[in-house]
Amino acid sequence: MNSALRKFIFHDLQMIEGYIDPPDSLVFLSLLQAQQRNGLEGGIAEIGVFYGRSYFLLRKISEGSSARVLGIDLFDIGRTTDGAAPQYNRFIDNGRRLGLAVEEDLIITGDTARLKAEDIVGKVGRTRFFSIDGGHMLHHVVTDAALATDTLADHGIIAFDDTFNPAWPEVTVGVSDFLRQKEGAFSAFCMTKYKTYVCRTGFHAFYEKVIAEAKDLLAFDHVKTEFLGSNVARLHNPMSRRMVYELMVRSGMSAFSERVYR
Ligand SMILES: C[S@@+](CC[C@H](N)C(=O)[O-])C[C@H]1O[C@@H](n2cnc3c(N)ncnc32)[C@H](O)[C@@H]1O
Repeated sequence: MNSALRKFIFHDLQMIEGYIDPPDSLVFLSLLQAQQRNGLEGGIAEIGVFYGRSYFLLRKISEGSSARVLGIDLFDIGRTTDGAAPQYNRFIDNGRRLGLAVEEDLIITGDTARLKAEDIVGKVGRTRFFSIDGGHMLHHVVTDAALATDTLADHGIIAFDDTFNPAWPEVTVGVSDFLRQKEGAFSAFCMTKYKTYVCRTGFHAFYEKVIAEAKDLLAFDHVKTEFLGSNVARLHNPMSRRMVYELMVRSGMSAFSERVYR
């Protein structure tokens, strides 16, 4: 068991406003650690930092490895004409609170539509893990998937957020279009309630095995699902567990909530 990292996920990270939930945090952990164990090197990038919840998770997991973590966001929430940048400042403060000072030279403020792969590769090298959680309309997903693909190492993974979420139907269209247009070069290997994980098809069997054998994912039912020509492990997290977890967090027992996911 990764006890220190699990404590970070279930306790420390809960102080940060944001969206990544424990199941996906455990998938990030399992995939990044498997890459590290197997010498699959590369940078890590995220589109859609918000206040840093998943950014700090990526930083924490990759501590001690050579990987650098790059974050991209508009950072325009609450921005005023006098130049105040509350979203960015809160993100920086969150880093201090967690003891993970933001590496500001690896943070890009701006619209991904204006970025080129070289802007990312030039800072962190080719990427082994790319989290896409920025704009949720079709044109954003198209832009961001192309950007991620152009930075990706052969063994790189793209994690698409909010797939199959009825609140964001165009994300689902974007990911499906991406896989279909790649004509088998990329395939999905894992899905959770919120995210879909894809890689180049040559690495599908490797990542499929990583997910199947990951100790931190034993709490989930691994449901074999087919999606656009590939086998996907759909990690099912029963409603009963989600309810117990939420109750524990709301009653101030987040330090113990980790046990629900063993
Ligand atoms: C759902 S939030 C990300 C949540 C975050 N990953 C977390 O774990 O809490 C989406 C973020 O994407 C950013 N965003 C939206 N459109 C963008 C664009 N075109 N380029 C860069 N960032 C964008 C927003 O500013 C917002 O902070």
